[in-house]
Amino acid sequence: MARLLIKKGADTEVAMTANATRFITPLTFQALTGRPVSCRSFDSSDEDVMAHISLAARTEALVIVPATANIIAKMAMGIADDFLTTLCLAVTSPKIVCPAMNVRMFQNPVVQENLRRLQGFGAIVVMPGCGDLACGETGPGRLAELPEIIEAIKSALTVKSLAGKKVLVSAGPTREMIDPVRFISNRSTGKMGFAMAAEAHRRGARVFLVSGPVTTPRPMGVTVVEVTTAVEMRQAVLDLAQDADVVVKAAAVSDYAPAEQYAQKVKKGLDEETLRLIKNPDILAELGRHKGRRLLVGFAAETEDLLAHAREKMINKNLDLIVANDVSRPGAGFAVDTNIVKLLYPSGRIDDIPLKSKEEVARDIWDRIVELPAPRGPIQ
Ligand code: C5P
Repeated sequence: MARLLIKKGADTEVAMTANATRFITPLTFQALTGRPVSCRSFDSSDEDVMAHISLAARTEALVIVPATANIIAKMAMGIADDFLTTLCLAVTSPKIVCPAMNVRMFQNPVVQENLRRLQGFGAIVVMPGCGDLACGETGPGRLAELPEIIEAIKSALTVKSLAGKKVLVSAGPTREMIDPVRFISNRSTGKMGFAMAAEAHRRGARVFLVSGPVTTPRPMGVTVVEVTTAVEMRQAVLDLAQDADVVVKAAAVSDYAPAEQYAQKVKKGLDEETLRLIKNPDILAELGRHKGRRLLVGFAAETEDLLAHAREKMINKNLDLIVANDVSRPGAGFAVDTNIVKLLYPSGRIDDIPLKSKEEVARDIWDRIVELPAPRGPIQ
């Protein structure tokens, strides 16, 4: 966990209880974090006798991982009899508690009651998973997976600028079947749309994600609707867009689908074959025509004349914002974890977002979306 936090750029300091030092030496954490490890209150060797207060003041998130039944009980009751519990009382920033213990201990009503009490005080509890426990038993009690804990920390540190809003995101490619084994598609992996959905969730929105076939891991806390074709995507998006406040269409929808879909695998035949294609519905344009009070955000992936093409799409589809990315640039577009985009507004304003991770780009885009003026059209 400490290593992962450092890798993600978090300034990480470790505080340990006396019992924790029997499992891992403080020196291990000190070597890992490059910071002194706090264990005892009023340590005479420590120059800063008020270390728990100064550490509390610079703590932006306090993560108790793993949280034993003992520390949970102490935190729930406000007991402060060592460095860590004193720190817990002095920290005013978000506290994320990640229980890990024997299944029967975890299920004990007193532990459950203490966790509820902690939640009542505003702590975030990342529930343990089920599985094999250190004691040899099986059941709930296993420390939550680290990515889930990281997500809880990120969420706790995010201002809830979308609280009470419903957000719909589309992502990934569509697949247009030619026969049972072949299809037309594109290189979209859904990463940018998934990052948009994850960030909307962190900001407190109810998030629905309509995704084409991808292998990208699902964002946590988001309702995912899987679709294959553009026609299926249209149906799912139109249904979910009804009462949405913001629709973000990051999907790479196939413009065309085969005119005929063969029931059986097509056999090799002539030297030359022609595939007839028909145009797919333009989902975003359809939403733009019946815009109502929804904010509509589109994406434009281009390989040439980026700004001109993106502006044209923004106007034709009646969008409030379009995110233009030049997919021919290294570090941008399909199948990479980074992106370089320009945000175009109907007013003519253009914001440049330089090379960043898709997660950071998503944050920048949402920072802009939440500031957009609400469309004044009738509710559709
Ligand atoms: O495909 P195009 O470049 O026009 O995509 C621009 C925007 O329109 C994207 O936000 C995309 O998700 C959306 N779109 C759509 N339905 C289509 C094609 C594109 O909603 N059939």
